[in-house]
Amino acid sequence: MTEWHTASAPGKFVILGEHSVVYGKPAVVLAADRRITCGVRRGRRNLLNGEPMEFSRQPHFRYLTRNLRHAVEFVTRSDIPAGAGLGSSAALAASVALALESMAGNDPDERKLVDEAYGAELAAQGNGSPMDASACVHGGGIGVNIPGTENRKLWRISRNGRVWNVSDVDVPKMTFVIGNTGIRAPTGPQVDKVRRYASRSNFATEMIEEIGNVTLSGYEALRKGDVETLGRMMITDHKLLSILGVSCKELNKLVNAALPFSYGAKLTGSGGGGCMVALTDDPHRVASAIEARGGTAYIMNAGSEGARLETSLPDGPVFNVPVI
Ligand code: MEV
Repeated sequence: MTEWHTASAPGKFVILGEHSVVYGKPAVVLAADRRITCGVRRGRRNLLNGEPMEFSRQPHFRYLTRNLRHAVEFVTRSDIPAGAGLGSSAALAASVALALESMAGNDPDERKLVDEAYGAELAAQGNGSPMDASACVHGGGIGVNIPGTENRKLWRISRNGRVWNVSDVDVPKMTFVIGNTGIRAPTGPQVDKVRRYASRSNFATEMIEEIGNVTLSGYEALRKGDVETLGRMMITDHKLLSILGVSCKELNKLVNAALPFSYGAKLTGSGGGGCMVALTDDPHRVASAIEARGGTAYIMNAGSEGARLETSLPDGPVFNVPVI
């Protein structure tokens, strides 16, 4: 039996700037303390968790194995809910990319991993920014197109005339609670919805611009540890995202449940379902309020380590999800 090569990557949650980042506006995203782990080894057949790999249903695996000349077996475990805006797709791509690099005998190189993970994301969802891939590869806190962070620059990625300057940013100690609506909402259709709106409406374009401004004010507050202002910016961001049409009544319900005990709350990720995030000093109370309104709450530590090699697979649910 050939040996397993195992790697993991964290999920992420966006605290400001989703959707507008697709248009090259600023965003701030934090690595979550939930991970996907992937093991890979040479095999006689392509298998995913013991079943024949259906590449047509697994765009990430199809993309990431495009240069392999032999069959491989993959196993995946995850404690990141799928299709919920917490970066399961980018974390899958990052962990698979790193496990494959290890199998090839290559030293881990973040820049290569982010290109691979972003490529896999595009293959799966068709459109989008390299924000999620950057957070799941590098971990910690990530700023995209934030002026003044050039001395912490990680990489510059451009595509179709858009440019994303990605930097490492400090994550002060803050408590976030995630509320999951339980509605699965893949990213691609939400990104397309905003693109269609922006292509026919100056108003939508102005909203995207305004999310960028709010994100910069929120980043300044994050830097100073000013949770009140950051919370206010999150609330404004949620309103702007709602105007863009990517919230839904279940997300609004969980945001409203969290707000009385939070500095701010907003949808996180692509919206249309999935998760919201609240910034609070009272995480248990916020978690109870979310659960009382039918959501699933996770108290989240921000700033986890990025993609890394592992010595074994953890216990945890098998992750076969994609079919985006
Ligand atoms: C999804 O986590 C974030 C979006 O901005 C899409 C993207 O940046 O690719 C909605």
